[in-house]
Amino acid sequence: MNPLLQLDNISMHFPNKDKEAKNTTIKALSNIDLTVYPGEVIAVVGESGCGKTTLGKVISGLHQPTGGNYYYKGKDVNQLNKKRMRQFRTNIQLVQQDSYAALNPAKTIQQSLAAPIMRHKKAKGKKAIRLKIIELLETVGLKPAEQFLAKFPHQLSGGQRQRVLMARAISLDPEIIVADEPVSMVDVSLRLSILNLMSTLNKKLNIAFVYITHDLATARFIAQNGRLAAMYLGRIVELSSVGDIMSNPQHPYLQALLSAVPIPDPNVAKAKRELPLKSLEVPNLVYPPSGCAFHPRCPYATNSCSEECPTLRKVSHGLVACHHAERIPKWHLTASSN
Ligand SMILES: Nc1ncnc2c1ncn2[C@@H]1O[C@H](COP(=O)(O)OP(=O)(O)OP(=O)(O)O)[C@@H](O)[C@H]1O
Ligand SMILES: [Mg+2]
Repeated sequence: MNPLLQLDNISMHFPNKDKEAKNTTIKALSNIDLTVYPGEVIAVVGESGCGKTTLGKVISGLHQPTGGNYYYKGKDVNQLNKKRMRQFRTNIQLVQQDSYAALNPAKTIQQSLAAPIMRHKKAKGKKAIRLKIIELLETVGLKPAEQFLAKFPHQLSGGQRQRVLMARAISLDPEIIVADEPVSMVDVSLRLSILNLMSTLNKKLNIAFVYITHDLATARFIAQNGRLAAMYLGRIVELSSVGDIMSNPQHPYLQALLSAVPIPDPNVAKAKRELPLKSLEVPNLVYPPSGCAFHPRCPYATNSCSEECPTLRKVSHGLVACHHAERIPKWHLTASSN
């Protein structure tokens, strides 16, 4: 299958506005290689500040990367003609974390949804546009749809607003939705229903999802048949199928993350050991450590780790950026067997 998107050695370095660190940059993304295929689900996971939102914005075309090449259906995004650029912009939709900020508070749901439909000529005439909006609201589970048309964003719950954002995204028949922490501001009780909605949209409409989160549990749920990209300090450190990563993480950072996930079963929890890191401090993106950015915290680091930055390479079932991936002990994760 031909890829929809290809990020080839992408970097995004922002100028640093901190007066005490003049002429430095914030290396939000470095050397990112990532391919997205039609209809697949990729979860992008990492701690706060590791560059997930920046990656989502680069993918959606909102940030022009400072390095590397970005291809849409095999064509360099910088060289798309007007028509193709329009396709690129409609086919990749970004759903952001803060549903309140993403909707105009002065517009009704009907007005907010009508604007892109009219702009992109997805329906013509008042009646057809209204019908299209009703169909969209029903698709995202806001029923009866007529009750939501005249409402303003503040009259909806966080979960309902998030659904409206999904409706707005799918109104343009996208090939990919980049969902940046779409459930982190939604009540825990409603999270599952939003995740299920994304799964349904993926399966029924064959929309690919790039699901951005700091939460391994929701990543595992949404991308159960997909892939997971783990990020650390602006780089992808492991990329593999979710099943393989969860049962056999190969990068020490991911082993540490997974070994720290709490387990409800006390017997399993007792048998579980956390991978001891040398430091809990996360270095910053202005002065990332030399070589492998994880080396100051890694219990397996050797001299070469501080000297040479490992690239993503094939190791058994997936891609791992670690010099010692084949040699480090298998951190047996009882978590994977539950
Ligand atoms: N427009 C910008 N200008 C300057 N620095 C930026 C900009 N956008 C992001 N950054 C910096 O890039 C780094 C990565 O930020 P990003 O928002 O991508 O992280 P994140 O993984 O999404 O974090 P979180 O989980 O908290 O949402 C941070 O240090 C951030 O301050
Ligand atoms: Mg973010």
